Amino acid sequence: MIRVVVIGQGQVASNFVVGLERLKKGEIEPYGVPLADMDLGYNFNDIKIVGSYDVDAGKVGRSLYDVAKMYFNEEIIPEELKDIYVRKGISLGKLQDMPFDIVSLDENNGSLSDVIDLLYEEWCRLKPDVVVDLTTTQYGIVFRDFKKLEETVLKNNRELLTPSQVYCYSLIKYVENVRSAAYVNCIPVPIANDPAIVGKMMEAGGLVLGDDGATGATPLTADILRHMADRNRKVLSVAQFNIGGNLDFLALLNKERNRAKEFTKSSIVKDILGYDAPHYIRPTGYLEPLGDKKFVAMHLIYKSFNGAEDEIIVNMRINDSPALAGYVVDLVRLSKLALDNEIYGTVYEINAFYMKRPGPLGSKSISKILARRLLGEWVGKAARKPVKAYEII
Ligand SMILES: NC(=O)c1ccc[n+]([C@@H]2O[C@H](COP(=O)([O-])OP(=O)(O)OC[C@H]3O[C@@H](n4cnc5c(N)ncnc54)[C@H](O)[C@@H]3O)[C@@H](O)[C@H]2O)c1
Repeated sequence: MIRVVVIGQGQVASNFVVGLERLKKGEIEPYGVPLADMDLGYNFNDIKIVGSYDVDAGKVGRSLYDVAKMYFNEEIIPEELKDIYVRKGISLGKLQDMPFDIVSLDENNGSLSDVIDLLYEEWCRLKPDVVVDLTTTQYGIVFRDFKKLEETVLKNNRELLTPSQVYCYSLIKYVENVRSAAYVNCIPVPIANDPAIVGKMMEAGGLVLGDDGATGATPLTADILRHMADRNRKVLSVAQFNIGGNLDFLALLNKERNRAKEFTKSSIVKDILGYDAPHYIRPTGYLEPLGDKKFVAMHLIYKSFNGAEDEIIVNMRINDSPALAGYVVDLVRLSKLALDNEIYGTVYEINAFYMKRPGPLGSKSISKILARRLLGEWVGKAARKPVKAYEII
């Protein structure tokens, strides 16, 4: 059994919980779950959602079934979701620009330590093996030193913190005192890219995976770049942009949040090509009628033999949220597989395939075709020693 807590009961999380229950009943095929056919020691039926958190006043206190009605026709929503209720999370005052009312554990501006104690107590009761972060994108800093992160939390310095860092800090306390667990960070806040967090998790006997799920155009761009590098074609420019109409795209209109995304996406160019070809890679806009099915355009110019200049143009319409939700089905099983084998800290082989900015800090983005091979090898010998974050940096 893998006990899962989801943070951020939005469109990705709702796709995850609805799709998972439908998978368990055999109502859908496991398309979009990359390792569906691989034996990870746990299958879909072993995953149990035990808790969910949000800060949207329209979601907190409602069942996952009711929240799913915001995204799906009622006929496909599994009855099992009627028994799980959305709990109040933490916001640190970072969501004022969002188009909904906020309720959160920290709304009265009390001390963060008290909020963390509350969360900790809830997690002692929920006993999660894996906590999955699917909250709204935030811009966060790398602390590097756990003492610095701890001091910032204890001094109640909300300005420097994101909710994800506080959730993860609270899970570290749980790992230290109760049992091993993993934090899977699907958003751009540096969690698996922060040696403070990875190092502490390794010491405590827990795991972090991240950062920022790689689903839409970024993995395809990474594979095309590898294709160019393997053929010694000189890439002269890369343009890639996304326009979508879901809440995630609306949130990215905020400059700081967009900066966080741009940072996680752009590292692929230099990492894969070995030189920094001029590029523009970022979510560019919000257009409500597109809904969750975003429009992606990609354009590459490159030089081939005898000075010839070629171009690649790709246009796509992609359902954004189900893509990441399918990955989460793997990520929770891989987390448990790692924990069972006492693999702590973080695992580059998992991050490199599923994430835009694979931790630990300082590790490279590689093409997803290569990453998939590494991941298969890692699963094959799952008891391998973990990558030690502080050795790589
Ligand atoms: N393919 C993808 O959709 C994809 C890929 C990579 C990363 N992501 C990231 O995944 C995240 C979720 O995407 P989504 O489309 O579900 O967005 P969404 O806006 O539908 O859902 C986010 C949810 O998180 C909640 N939330 C925000 N801050 C919170 C907090 N501090 N605590 C608890 N809940 C909080 C919001 O109220 C909302 O319900 C986004 O950050 C997005 O950038 C998505």
